[in-house]
Amino acid sequence: MISSYPPTHIHTTDNIVNVLQLTDLHLYTDPKKTVEGRNCQADFERCLTQALNEDRRCDLILLTGDLVNEIDNAIYERIFAKLSATNIAFACIAGNHDVTDELYPERPFDKRQLVAQPPDSRLLTHHCIQANDWQILLVDSSIPGQVKGKLPKQTKSWLTKQLSNNHRATILVLHHHLVPVHSKWIDAHMAEGAEEIWQLLHQFDHVKAVLSGHVHQAFHTQYKGIDFYTSPSTCYQFKIGSDEFALDKFAKPGYRWLQLGNNGYLESWVKRLDT
Ligand SMILES: [Fe+2]
Ligand SMILES: [Fe+2]
Repeated sequence: MISSYPPTHIHTTDNIVNVLQLTDLHLYTDPKKTVEGRNCQADFERCLTQALNEDRRCDLILLTGDLVNEIDNAIYERIFAKLSATNIAFACIAGNHDVTDELYPERPFDKRQLVAQPPDSRLLTHHCIQANDWQILLVDSSIPGQVKGKLPKQTKSWLTKQLSNNHRATILVLHHHLVPVHSKWIDAHMAEGAEEIWQLLHQFDHVKAVLSGHVHQAFHTQYKGIDFYTSPSTCYQFKIGSDEFALDKFAKPGYRWLQLGNNGYLESWVKRLDT
């Protein structure tokens, strides 16, 4: 059993760290509830099981926000119990849904009422995991009561300090995206001041990649030499390229692997549920 949460050090003897990203679980108090025909609890469990049954050792699991769709301590208990039972190190950050209750979900997206809520205390505000040759920096980009994100001043200062003091290859992990994914409605809810965050990151040659959730789709690009990755949700997917809020009923739940090697070597790919 992994006794300490959150993990601070991961060491492997083959110089490879296999990181599994699971994101946007959107779980409900009622584990049987379905959304657009999908049961988010079952989908999350199927993603976790499928990933861990692959022919690959998993060294770290990152949950990158929107763990719940209605704020209830019991859901976090369920998630943490499930992850603890894997005996694999894991770390969780908040997304907008972890700090915001959305009232009137039956209304169109922009007509829903948003109510600010405090995050679960186990969701990390800023945290560093040293993994062999790498440092994984997790930051909370959520704003209670809002869909968009932001990095508060103190988080940016922490980031600058971490990057100045530790020159290992670095990956930054947050919920909100820092590059538009060409879908107007979700791009209106990126991390605010993304350009400023990129400027900060570009001051340090050892920043190799940024990893986010929030967009419920797989995406990869490079921004001035830094890789930017997102992952499918473990439940429902947003329609790629749509200007209005829309789900893609045919896209399967999925997850992302990141393989961190020596000298800043990074490989990453997405897998979808087999069935
Ligand atoms: Fe989400
Ligand atoms: Fe989100």
